[in-house]
Amino acid sequence: MSKLVVEEIDLQQCNDFWEIEKQCFSDPWSFLDFEYQIKNPNAEIIGAFVGNMPVGFVNVQCVAGELTINNIAVLKEFRKQSIGEKLLKAALEAYPNADVAFLEVRESNIPAQKLYEKFGFVKVGERKNYYQNPTENAMLMTKNMKTEQYNEL
Ligand SMILES: CC(C)(COP(=O)(O)OP(=O)(O)OC[C@H]1O[C@@H](n2cnc3c(N)ncnc32)[C@H](O)[C@@H]1OP(=O)(O)O)[C@@H](O)C(=O)NCCC(=O)NCCS
Repeated sequence: MSKLVVEEIDLQQCNDFWEIEKQCFSDPWSFLDFEYQIKNPNAEIIGAFVGNMPVGFVNVQCVAGELTINNIAVLKEFRKQSIGEKLLKAALEAYPNADVAFLEVRESNIPAQKLYEKFGFVKVGERKNYYQNPTENAMLMTKNMKTEQYNEL
């Protein structure tokens, strides 16, 4: 694999990453919501590039010490090469003052759950019928950012 670069994206790059969002999710965020996230001072979209090619991103925000992973995705042909791990690590390091991290994940999404567990997230609840297309429960996962560490990658 060519050199991997992981860095915050700007508005000019929004469309490239929204294309990945649409390819990876059956219920994607709208372009406007995606763009709003880039403009939001309490949020970041961090992109992964192989060479100059956008291959994945993580959508993260932090308000009042609560960090939320809104979404993470890697193009199918680039999965299982530790890109997801590098993105999640960058997202968790983006807000050093965060006390706690939260995320929701489809009950059936074992690859994502395994990734989150590797970083110390634990399941703390579920949200019934949270997702659409198809309708599915969400697992709510959390991580204490002050006491728990993740393995250096
Ligand atoms: C979840 C996702 C981002 C992982 O990206 P990735 O680059 O393939 O992940 P990595 O190669 O960094 O894998 C890191 C860890 O995740 C877990 N993992 C990733 N893919 C997995 C799979 N197919 N089965 C089981 N565990 C998996 C493993 O714990 C893995 O660690 P290991 O290699 O030591 O076993 C990717 O599968 C994806 O884009 N899925 C579609 C979008 C999505 O569902 N996003 C999550 C929304 S909540």
